[in-house]
Amino acid sequence: MDHKQLAALMKDFIDRTMDLYEHMDTHRVCPAAGSQIGERIKKQGIPRTGRPLAQVCRQMEEEILPAASLGQHPRSFACIPGPISLLSWMGEMMTGAWNPHGGSAANIPGPGAVEQELIRWMCGLAGYPESAGGLFVSGGSMANLTALTAARDACLPFEKRDKGVAYVSDQTHSSVSRAFHILGFQQEQIRRIPSDSSFAMDVKELERAVRRDLFLGLAPFAVVATAGTTNTGSIDPLAEIARLCKGSGLWMHVDGAFGASILLSGWGRGMLKGIEQSDSLSWDAHKWLRQTYGCSAVLVRQQSRLVRSFSSHPEYLEDLAGAPEETNFWDLGPELTRPCRGLKLWFTLQVLGQEQMAQDMEHSCRMAQAAAQELEKDPHWEIISGPSLGILNFRYVLPGLSPDELDRLNQQMAAQVTAGGFAQILTTRLKGVQAIRLCTLHPDTSPEDIRTTIRLLKESPALQKAQSRRPHPARNKSCAPVMSLQARPISAASMGRSSSPIHGL
Ligand SMILES: Cc1ncc(COP(=O)(O)O)c(C=O)c1O
Repeated sequence: MDHKQLAALMKDFIDRTMDLYEHMDTHRVCPAAGSQIGERIKKQGIPRTGRPLAQVCRQMEEEILPAASLGQHPRSFACIPGPISLLSWMGEMMTGAWNPHGGSAANIPGPGAVEQELIRWMCGLAGYPESAGGLFVSGGSMANLTALTAARDACLPFEKRDKGVAYVSDQTHSSVSRAFHILGFQQEQIRRIPSDSSFAMDVKELERAVRRDLFLGLAPFAVVATAGTTNTGSIDPLAEIARLCKGSGLWMHVDGAFGASILLSGWGRGMLKGIEQSDSLSWDAHKWLRQTYGCSAVLVRQQSRLVRSFSSHPEYLEDLAGAPEETNFWDLGPELTRPCRGLKLWFTLQVLGQEQMAQDMEHSCRMAQAAAQELEKDPHWEIISGPSLGILNFRYVLPGLSPDELDRLNQQMAAQVTAGGFAQILTTRLKGVQAIRLCTLHPDTSPEDIRTTIRLLKESPALQKAQSRRPHPARNKSCAPVMSLQARPISAASMGRSSSPIHGL
């Protein structure tokens, strides 16, 4: 390997990537359809002998990486976007370069101290006592799985596992039922408690369900509350759920993968009152704390609960285990070898500080509010939820269309704006209808971005066509289905941004 050539290529890559970020606004959010990249990669296969470094670099940068949606784009409004800070990228690069083995703190005193300090700080923000602890894992799904393993082991004796029952809401993230499945529970052992009109868990229903299961001789052992649901950004009534869990000896897990980050702000801590009484918490840094993917924390009120579930002492690790009173990261979760995922977060926080992060989150919430205000100008828009924690759900209601036609229309409107490249928008299903969902997490999203996105939705071919086909109000209500409309990319002209062309259009 020619190190000089490698260094030169790395530097060039960094320069060009900085340029990409500087002009992110002019790039499509999602790649244009029809690139055939999958076919080409398959045909190319894995070579028996290597290829020139510069050639592989070029292919990565020009062909492979651009064929991906940019979750870090200021107009990526889909799922929970990843509005990364370039500081996180830098922290990750530096960590990857040194590649510390994150299994035992004794083996990596520096990086180990950083991760332990972050965990201590996060536990403090959650209001946990000194006995608390935790671990950086790859994401919210792994954090939920890790915490729920501890919940099962702490609150459900082995011989009662077939009678164990856990409680989630109809808005709980799908990773939770997957975690219960991995832990050996059947779907029938999971109660989906209905949510109320604000999409938060209905605690009266929860109480009723727990009482019923106890009466039936079952063994309720855990409740999963959510701080910031994926669909609507709703917060379950944490204090009430905590009271119920305490009274009934149930483990309370809070899935704060999305919403726990607001603990950095005073207003956020107020909104999450009750979280301090929970037994465990999932908190993704690769969502609202602006980290590149693979950075999440699982926190528990009593670190010993994780040790009980995960600790093992193979003879080949004894020399690295440190002093007997020390707890190693490999004793707290399912991984042995693990990257030091927290270093990039520490790096970012050291440079930005907590206040900047909190201000960025406030901006996110303001952008969702700006979207709601924009929609209120036209009575055809119906707001279905929010804005809550930067998430807004709404739909366009065209009189005369059937419920199915309205669902399809709204889905097509979102798909067409996404296909045009200006923004990425997905729909979800709420209260039995298809809703257009905006999640505005990026600190660089501007009010103009929001206004233009809503205008593009209104100018989408699907809506134009549906409006032109709409039967006269006096005629029969059942009209031609919107289903036959094909999603077409929106032209640059219709995006009205000729002074700021989107690359690739
Ligand atoms: C509330 C919630 N929990 C869990 C997850 C899963 O997190 P990850 O995708 O990091 O595994 C998500 C992902 O969006 C989420 O929003």
